[in-house]
Amino acid sequence: MKVLYINSNPKPLDQSFGLRLGRHFLNELSNQNENIEIETVNLYEENIPLIDADVLDAWGKLAAGVELSPSQVEKTTRMGEVLEQFLSADMYVFNTPMWNLSYPPMLKAYIDNIVMAGKTFKYTENGPEGLLGGKTAVHIQSRGGVYSEGPAQSFEFTNGYLQGVMAFIGITDYHHLYTEGMAAAPDRAEEILDAARETASDLAKDLASAKRNA
Ligand SMILES: Cc1cc2nc3c(=O)[nH]c(=O)nc-3n(C[C@H](O)[C@H](O)[C@H](O)COP(=O)(O)O)c2cc1C
Repeated sequence: MKVLYINSNPKPLDQSFGLRLGRHFLNELSNQNENIEIETVNLYEENIPLIDADVLDAWGKLAAGVELSPSQVEKTTRMGEVLEQFLSADMYVFNTPMWNLSYPPMLKAYIDNIVMAGKTFKYTENGPEGLLGGKTAVHIQSRGGVYSEGPAQSFEFTNGYLQGVMAFIGITDYHHLYTEGMAAAPDRAEEILDAARETASDLAKDLASAKRNA
């Protein structure tokens, strides 16, 4: 089983709560299932093309059978590679820190590379249909404040968005792990992370056994 670890946090591991939680989850998953192969995509280190004027123009040209410019060939080829790598995995583990009530922009750039008609969804008479049914997604999120309850609850937009994008491409087996409130209560930060690690261990066990029995 191939797991694609899609990391949108540019920090070093030891300085990030979310990356430490992510490392723990992946270790637990590997411990539970020896057939797991993990491939990492560090979004701040890789070339993830943006949908810009050049790319939009290239898509128009491709539809019309018109030759692309060299930069358009380069960008659309790279977008194809990003998409093929995504399609090759059975499970996706997204790691995102909360930045300004959202996630880092490289994750949106990545989503714009993988939501492609004919590849991850298709249009039907009954509307769009996701093509990646049977795959699993896990969203690991770290956030300085508390959003799971209390006054900031309605300000958490990004997990719902990612879950919606996954459902749009057919992935309804979606799980959310989070560690939160470390900035609000720094003296309790390690304790909060430990509790999240326990939840992550339980999820890793459940997912590994579900995949073993699939
Ligand atoms: C640019 C930036 C914006 C942030 N915005 C928020 C925010 O809107 N809400 C919040 O709760 N924490 C916010 N934080 C705090 C981070 O979510 C928090 O430090 C979290 O632990 C980051 O994850 P990491 O430790 O894995 O890097 C922000 C941090 C940065 C660097």
